[in-house]
Amino acid sequence: MNNSPIGVYDSGFGGLSVWRELQRELPEESLIYLGDGKNCPYGSLPMELIREIAEEAVETLVERGCKMVVVACNTATSAAIAYLRERFDQIPIVGLEPAIKPACLRTKSGVVGVVATERSLESEKFLSTLARYGEGVKVIKSVGEGFVEAVEANEESSPATLHKVRAVIEPIVEQGADIIVLGCTHYPFLRNVIEQVIDGQQVEIIDSGEAVAKRVESLLDSCDIRAEKGNTPHYEFMTFADAEYGERLRRKAFEK
Ligand code: DGL
Repeated sequence: MNNSPIGVYDSGFGGLSVWRELQRELPEESLIYLGDGKNCPYGSLPMELIREIAEEAVETLVERGCKMVVVACNTATSAAIAYLRERFDQIPIVGLEPAIKPACLRTKSGVVGVVATERSLESEKFLSTLARYGEGVKVIKSVGEGFVEAVEANEESSPATLHKVRAVIEPIVEQGADIIVLGCTHYPFLRNVIEQVIDGQQVEIIDSGEAVAKRVESLLDSCDIRAEKGNTPHYEFMTFADAEYGERLRRKAFEK
């Protein structure tokens, strides 16, 4: 048993889509969310720089006494997960991966769309997962241009965002995809707009939030570090940006 918090880290608001799953699935666990905010978006930064920022973020969470850290950012996972696990080997570190495997196994049309950041789509991890499960499946890879910025600006439902989302999603649907994988933790906040673009066609949208929460739960058990039954959780929000950004993180976390 261990009532210490779980750290959850992302470049900004995106990891809150994972935070929400964790809060729902593991209601007795305390969580410290670190949304960078200062260096966001990470999507096209050099890998080396992302690794340095991710190291600073995980170090901050370890110093706050976190018993586990979830890197709730596909881009930071692609750039740094192996390094972070080596550097902070005293605690389990969970990374995020796009749900390519279930998508490739489930597709009926044989066409799958994966939307993620530039760095994630070109990463070794992504390419090896694709080589492993994507045989015989046409996988359309698209960068969600402007998606992260829209979520960071709280502009999920503006006409400009609809326009950006349409430009990325429509061509994927037109090529016959029956599954679209959201490979960036910011994108689940755009689910409503994506559904609007899909407009009732038979296309399933999947993200990794639930799978990550299950992975965290099984690690808590295997490492014997679950919070005590009946523990009252504490939720803390940290940022490398200013206090106002920190307050926006808190509000977004609890927004319905
Ligand atoms: N939320 C992030 C991800 O999952 C990072 C997006 C960004 O900062 O560009 O990839």
